[in-house]
Amino acid sequence: MQIRKHLEKIPPYTPIEPFEVLSARIERSVDQIIKLDANENPYGPLPVVRETLANLPYAHIYPDPESRLLRQKLSQFCQIPMDNLLIGAGADELIDLLLRVFIDEGDSIVIFPPTFGMYAFDARLNNAQVWEIPRQSDFSINLEVLRRVVREKQPKIIFLATPNNPDGSFPNAKVIEQILELPALVVLDEAYIEFADQPQALGSNLSRIRQVPLRDNLVVLRTFSKLAALAGLRIGYGAFPTWLMPTLWKAKQPYSVNVAASAAAMACLDYPDELAKMVEWLVQERQRLYTELQNFSFLSAYPSLANYILVRVTRMNAAQLKERLAYQFGIFVRYFNSKGLQDHIRISVGKPSDTDALLGALQTIEKEEQK
Ligand SMILES: Cc1ncc(COP(=O)(O)O)c(C=O)c1O
Repeated sequence: MQIRKHLEKIPPYTPIEPFEVLSARIERSVDQIIKLDANENPYGPLPVVRETLANLPYAHIYPDPESRLLRQKLSQFCQIPMDNLLIGAGADELIDLLLRVFIDEGDSIVIFPPTFGMYAFDARLNNAQVWEIPRQSDFSINLEVLRRVVREKQPKIIFLATPNNPDGSFPNAKVIEQILELPALVVLDEAYIEFADQPQALGSNLSRIRQVPLRDNLVVLRTFSKLAALAGLRIGYGAFPTWLMPTLWKAKQPYSVNVAASAAAMACLDYPDELAKMVEWLVQERQRLYTELQNFSFLSAYPSLANYILVRVTRMNAAQLKERLAYQFGIFVRYFNSKGLQDHIRISVGKPSDTDALLGALQTIEKEEQK
């Protein structure tokens, strides 16, 4: 028996270890762990969401494959027609869907590493060649190289996270416009857009979502995982060009978005001010964490427009620092064992008490190092 040949070669996805596994590994109970490793929203779902989930009436009925009610609400929230919107089991499902729809054997995509790992993972799963255009030292995009790759390799899709994960940088508007002029589908991943803007605006100024219906080659992806703290429920959405919608509807798994996730998303869209408040707390805390991190001579933090901060670790091994924070203090941060990031960690922004604990731990480690 023979599985599809390209699948034999691809490495498995390396996910963050689940909460319970982490806590067992370091022998601390779950409530003694500070989880700053996956850019989750530490405030958890709004009270109205908890109430909605507790009283869910139709869990025994299959969901609406077209998510009509949620798309109607999102249409108002994003100010674009619902006909351009599609819901997914996380933005992740929509990344995979795009690749399934566009990639034929021999086709390729472009990514700008370091960036979110799912683009390359899903591309390889779908047998796409991945052209990597490394970011420059300030994490900006090298447009000249991009233009050459587009000319020579004719990639079908360009994936660009705005802000980028893991560094939190945001490309300059002119750069985005020039990328949009290229002959490829441009996917702007706005998973963290709400943290990049005025909190009250919930992403409306820097976001490109309202341009989607006006263009043929722009897709914008969003998620409820970060803004609304629904990561565990798996629900995201995307805005897609009008011409593409019929094909997406044909290719999408009809029941991938479950009724609990849908109800939760609809409930929180009724409380945009409450969502904006959480964003504001996290943006303030990001500012405080960034300022405080400057006080550590062995750390160099990058400015970020998302709910995490990338930090270069000097005079100390970054992988060991991550392990020490976990085993000594129960604080989990993300370490990437990948090219260009071996001496970095990424810290998700938590509650003020999480920042206090992290800063205390870093002070202790600094003192121990000076002995
Ligand atoms: C840039 C980026 N896009 C998308 C996602 C995934 O979003 P979702 O939870 O909706 O699948 C993440 C998750 O970390 C991310 O960092």
